[in-house]
Amino acid sequence: MRFVTVDRWPPPVHVDYRPELEAGNVLFFPATPFELPKDNTNFLRTLNFTGGAVHKNIAYRTASDRITGIEAGSRQATLHAIMREYSRNVIAFVKDLLPQYSSGWKLDYASFRPLEEQGRGLPLNKRNDLIHTDAFPSRPTHGDLILRVFTNIHLSKSRNWVIADPFPALAEEYARAAGLDEISAGGRFRDASARLLKSFGFPVVPRSPYDRFMLNFHEYLKRNADFQANCAKYTFDFPPGSTWLTFTDLVPHSVLSGQHALEQTFIVSRRSLANPENAPVAVLERLCGRSLASND
Ligand code: SIN
Ligand code: FE
Repeated sequence: MRFVTVDRWPPPVHVDYRPELEAGNVLFFPATPFELPKDNTNFLRTLNFTGGAVHKNIAYRTASDRITGIEAGSRQATLHAIMREYSRNVIAFVKDLLPQYSSGWKLDYASFRPLEEQGRGLPLNKRNDLIHTDAFPSRPTHGDLILRVFTNIHLSKSRNWVIADPFPALAEEYARAAGLDEISAGGRFRDASARLLKSFGFPVVPRSPYDRFMLNFHEYLKRNADFQANCAKYTFDFPPGSTWLTFTDLVPHSVLSGQHALEQTFIVSRRSLANPENAPVAVLERLCGRSLASND
């Protein structure tokens, strides 16, 4: 597990950072490598969350250019413009950084994380201070990977992460206990029936066995007190003004403290990996001897 620091951007020669990310490392830019106007970050930091007009989670739906988490009004228009600009800038940067991924990725949401992470008192499956791998209930990836870019826009506080050993090691140890065999055995039929229901207009999310496993695994890790206490841990404090990216389904992570972060998510096609056998879906398929997603 390594933090790979990139001090110079753009670099004198292009480096293919895919193998680093796919091995479960974090790519760290001490200085944010794309434009982020001060007026915009000032506006975000001073948004007032009392009274309910601004919600605790602000999401920007990149593909449909919609904002959620703030009620209509002039601040909504400003926030929308800021999130759109942030999203465009970060996407252009990641395209330059990882051109091979950009050919087959899907743009997922961007978000602004306004609250202090320490002591949020969330229910267990929403807690981000417990180490977990990411899985989105509403947006199954069918074996593709979740790449997330974070920027700490707090003026003085670092954002403090703890990371554990990457997915292959974790899966080896815990995938069976988290239900891999049951899910892979029952998988095909449930996947097909969900697709059928959806074709009749029922509001179901057709999940592959892979997606069902990853949702289980997210919760399994959070509930596993022994894992939380005793797994190998690597801590990193991301300073104000820095940017970092990692595959958050491949890299178990938690955030212990920090406030004011921007984030953009990409769903990266497993076919565009430098080493597709590193994809969590491929790791799980080797373990259970079955195919787990119809994208195979
Ligand atoms: C998470 O994905 O668990 C949260 C990370 C963060 O907000 O820093
Ligand atoms: Fe997470």
